[in-house]
Amino acid sequence: MSPNELKQRVAEAAFLQLEQLFQPNWVLGIGTGSTVNCFIDCLTQSSQTHLSTVSSSVQTTDRLKADNIKVVDINDVSEVMVYIDGADEVDPSFALIKGGGGALTREKIVASMSRNFVCIVDESKLVDRLGKFPVPVEVLPLAHHPVATKLGKLGGHPKLRSGMTDNGNCILDVSGLEIDEPDYWERTINDIPGVVTTGIFSLHRPQEIFVATVDGSVDHRVAPKSFRLSP
Ligand code: 5RP
Repeated sequence: MSPNELKQRVAEAAFLQLEQLFQPNWVLGIGTGSTVNCFIDCLTQSSQTHLSTVSSSVQTTDRLKADNIKVVDINDVSEVMVYIDGADEVDPSFALIKGGGGALTREKIVASMSRNFVCIVDESKLVDRLGKFPVPVEVLPLAHHPVATKLGKLGGHPKLRSGMTDNGNCILDVSGLEIDEPDYWERTINDIPGVVTTGIFSLHRPQEIFVATVDGSVDHRVAPKSFRLSP
């Protein structure tokens, strides 16, 4: 199966499961990336286009609006019932690296507002320990140099990504970090002055993960009880 077929497969499996639960008053959080785009395709082709959504990026907003799906402002919503998003890496405790597509800050805001975070990935994203994928860190443009220096002292090798985020900031992609304690690393990087967000999603982990495997099946995994936010 091609990578794209795996993305379609996992998005469809998650959609079929969630569709049975959708309520008309629900607000859905929609992440960013090629896997989520497959989920949006499912939403568009279904009878669920009346649902309201909050979006994690300009790219996703444009896509939802083009498909006539209602997008509401994050500030006008008190709770997101389900947030669907992909990831760049997933460890066995459901801690993630996200932000390969540059949308990490809004993604983390929506994840933090969500009652249920459902992550959709193919099995190439599963790792024993986070950090092979460079950790994206969104940084105020005026501070990318001092932040990079501090990340270097923590053992990382930051590289300034070209372009700007939807929020007008820069991204440092940090390789070389061995993220054995994701909570610690998320807090430590977030505490560096000038950092807006780190792409380590450990304090807001998904409760459920759908994983497409190369044999064509989709594995539905529920977080270990200690990490679940809702029953
Ligand atoms: C965007 C993200 C994406 O979820 C992540 O990069 C995975 O993308 P894709 O589904 O295209 O593999 O975090 O900021």
